[in-house]
Amino acid sequence: MAEPRPEGRGSWGSRLGFILAAAGSAVGLGNLWKFPYLTYRFGGAEGGEARGAGAFVLIYLGAVFAVCVPVMVAEILIGRRGRRNPVGSFRAIRPGTPWPWVGLLGVVGGALILSYYTVVAGWTLEYVGKAATGTFSRYAESVSDAEIRTAICREAGVTDDATCPEAVRAFLDRHDGPEARDTALREKKLELYAARLFRDFLADPFKQVGFLFAFMALTAAVVLGGVSGGIERWNRILMPILIGMLAVLMVRVATLPGASRAVDFLFKPDLSLLSFEEVLWALGQAFFSLSLGMGALLTYGSYLSPRDRISTAALAIAGIDTLVALSAAFVIFGAVFSYGLQMKGAGIGNLFTAIPVIFLHVPGGGPLTVLFYVLVAFAALTSTVSLLEVASAYLMDERGWARRKAVLVAASAIFLLGVPCALSFNVLADLQVFGRTVFDLFDYFCSNLALPVGGLLISVFAGWVLTDGERRAEVQELHPVLYAAWLVVVRFVAPAAILAILVALLLGKVSG
Ligand code: PHE
Repeated sequence: MAEPRPEGRGSWGSRLGFILAAAGSAVGLGNLWKFPYLTYRFGGAEGGEARGAGAFVLIYLGAVFAVCVPVMVAEILIGRRGRRNPVGSFRAIRPGTPWPWVGLLGVVGGALILSYYTVVAGWTLEYVGKAATGTFSRYAESVSDAEIRTAICREAGVTDDATCPEAVRAFLDRHDGPEARDTALREKKLELYAARLFRDFLADPFKQVGFLFAFMALTAAVVLGGVSGGIERWNRILMPILIGMLAVLMVRVATLPGASRAVDFLFKPDLSLLSFEEVLWALGQAFFSLSLGMGALLTYGSYLSPRDRISTAALAIAGIDTLVALSAAFVIFGAVFSYGLQMKGAGIGNLFTAIPVIFLHVPGGGPLTVLFYVLVAFAALTSTVSLLEVASAYLMDERGWARRKAVLVAASAIFLLGVPCALSFNVLADLQVFGRTVFDLFDYFCSNLALPVGGLLISVFAGWVLTDGERRAEVQELHPVLYAAWLVVVRFVAPAAILAILVALLLGKVSG
């Protein structure tokens, strides 16, 4: 029998408040950085001739709506039924079983995600500053002609000084007319400059730790305000601004010549080229992007009123998250195709090195760059808030601490955990654990193991452990046919799909 529900916990002020907060959690760096990067990678743009990312996008959409939405319903349902943090919710529903450990996996995983995610979130603050003070436009005087020449030669694979001028001439000959050559050189300069700015920034341990601290403080300030006074209020303000800003960028990019190519690139699937690896990445990305599998939505669900419909909320959250991911990809690819840009290499740096180059060519690019980084910072903040709330709710429910104490202790501890992540790019760069830096290790462990395992166990709990009566009571709104379909997914489809990812990962079939 479930324990009585604790009094005095927060709750959402309105139904929209929950949806916006949960969508705020979902929309983050995963949408604005990781999704465009993955479509880029699987679209074959890296190889030069783009084959299109339509197949990846299609599989991603399938993963979101066929697998993840049902799992999301399960996760929110557990939170609303348990009315506590992830550990307490499982314990309240099934006392005396090992299930609370699943909640603990979520709390720990959430703390780990927050520690490295906040490092990257901190970068957005620095970049808002850089963009606002016009740092990027100073590339011309900051990069010398000699540096450009060396870079062009290096890219052409030329190492001796004698043949270098030839390589430079070949580079210039690829562009027709003095104007095109000029643009190409300017673009190269900015590319070099942006890469150098980012490298220098990463190499500065004081800045890395300082911005981590700043972003954690910002996150704590919001979470200190409580459920409806802090989290809901800020999400209500930030989410509409974010969507508005994205709309401005979309309108701008839609008028560029490469816009229709971007649409083709994203939405014309060629399933014959689909690889197994792509399918697994699509599912993993869907989990990360929807904040699924570690208790963030469970915790937000615990503040949900029994009157609200979980299934429609889950659909709305997934819909918003997906629209933002697709819009971000459209904005970036529209600009990339319009100006023949390359988004070179992999990794989180793209968001910080490619965007300034992309927007240099767009009229009004300066203000748009500021807008873009403000948008990324907002998106990241609404995600870090949801992560900090999980650890805080755990300390409040399980230890009986006041919100203030819980938030400050959780934020400080996670900040300390984040310090080695922030130093992974400079003083601790050579410290390798299992062949990875601390930052990469945390990311690998969370995205590829903790979230899928958490999602798997949540599905099993909702599908096999809860009784039909317990489940049905939380999703009364579902038509019997839809309810049956949902049950099939959480019982069979989702566990099988997630197990496939895990087995493939463990066998080393796909790279993390
Ligand atoms: N969904 C967030 C994003 O896309 C990341 C996140 C994962 C947040 C897990 C909370 C929990 O950026």
